[in-house]
Amino acid sequence: MSLPRILCFHLILMLSAFTGAANGYYHSWWTKCIHSSRDFSDMVYIDNYIFNKDVYIQFNSTVGEYVGYTALGVYNAERFNKDPNILQQERAQVERYCKHNAELYQSAIADKTVPPKVKLSSVKPAGGRHPAVLMCSAYRFYPHGIKVSWMRNGEVVKTDVTSTEEMPNGDWYYQIHSELEYTPKSGEKISCAVDHAGLTKPIIIDWDPSLPESERNKIAIGASGLVLGIIISAAGLIYYKKKSSGRILVPT
Ligand SMILES: *[C@@H]1O[C@H](CO)[C@@H](O)[C@H](O)[C@H]1NC(C)=O
Repeated sequence: MSLPRILCFHLILMLSAFTGAANGYYHSWWTKCIHSSRDFSDMVYIDNYIFNKDVYIQFNSTVGEYVGYTALGVYNAERFNKDPNILQQERAQVERYCKHNAELYQSAIADKTVPPKVKLSSVKPAGGRHPAVLMCSAYRFYPHGIKVSWMRNGEVVKTDVTSTEEMPNGDWYYQIHSELEYTPKSGEKISCAVDHAGLTKPIIIDWDPSLPESERNKIAIGASGLVLGIIISAAGLIYYKKKSSGRILVPT
């Protein structure tokens, strides 16, 4: 699993004082817990005091004390830092608030991952710069947060790639579609790689350029029709032969 598992939750307190219909002043207080390791060992707790869009005081658990960013912020940060009760409480939040909640989220959300089903197909070009378009689709994955990438002969392709957003199906699952426009060259290998929290290693599908799937399907349907036709005609012929020879055999 190469995607960082970042969980971040906010406690938001917003106060606003309106001075008119359109503009206002916003004082907000946000706390964030950020981690990317599964055992929460790299958990960071951030406590932000914000006026409009500017953070004027911040407690960052890595720093371990308040830092002020405006005259008012510096003044209050110093005041908070002199109060052992406030500092002690704030320093305890990584364990008491962040890790505690992250464990609950982990078992309620992150542990319920469903890996995607991946399909690689060829689609009709819509008049782009290249004559061929491949589509790599990942279906029914949970939670969102997926990486779809293209490779040509083992090297990551960044250009001529377009992708949809991760679209919610409305039933907790998500899907995403990525297209690669390209000019086919003989002997090359084009692959789509998908990585998601539900996978232990990425799913890599190589494109089989021999025949597009729709063409293969047409041939398969045609061939089955032909076989079925031969069987039915043979049966009909045998039936006809039996009937006609039977007529001859009956004495009159
Ligand atoms: C918290 O502080 C550490 C150390 O200074 C820094 O690397 C990190 O980016 C800070 N985190 C945030 C969200 O500001």
